Amino acid sequence: MATEVMIKPDGVQRGLVAPILERFLSKGYTLRGLKFLNVSKEHAERHYADLSSKPFFGGLIEYITSGPVVAIALEGKCVVEQARKIIGATNPLAADPGSIRGQFCIDIGRNIIHGSDTVENAQKELALWFPEGLVDNTPVLY
Ligand code: CMP
Repeated sequence: MATEVMIKPDGVQRGLVAPILERFLSKGYTLRGLKFLNVSKEHAERHYADLSSKPFFGGLIEYITSGPVVAIALEGKCVVEQARKIIGATNPLAADPGSIRGQFCIDIGRNIIHGSDTVENAQKELALWFPEGLVDNTPVLY
C-alpha cells in the first residue's frame, strides 16, 4: 500500500522538509518517490478537484502554487491511515500536539502538509504526482 504526501510551500520555506521526512521514515515507511517542484495552477486544481466548490478554493490554489513543494510517495502497512495520524487534523488547532500539524502550525490555511485521505485518493494522487511510476526501493541484503 502507498500514499502521497506533499510538503506545502510554507513547510518548505520554513525549513521543515527534513523533520517532516524524518517522522515518516523513522516510523518505518519506505520512500518510493521524492520530488521538489513548482506546481502549475492546472496541476494544483487537479490535485484539489474535489474542493473546487469551496469558498477557499481560489486561495488554496494560490497558496499551493506560491512556491516549491515536496511530493513524497510512501509505502508500508496501513500507510494511508497512519500518515494521516502522523500529519494530524486539517485544522492545526485541533491537531494532536504530537502530530506534524499539531507541532508546527496554527492556521488551517497554512497547514504545511497534505496526505491522501483514502486509499482511492492515494491511488489518484500518486498517479498525478508520479505518472512515471514509483521507485523500486526493496531492501537489498548484502
Ligand atoms: P489538505 O489536507 O491539503 O486538504 C485540503 C486543504 O484545504 C487543507 O489541507 C487546507 O490546506 C485547505 N483548507 C481546508 N479547509 C480550509 C479552510 N476552512 N480555509 C482555508 N483552507 C482550508
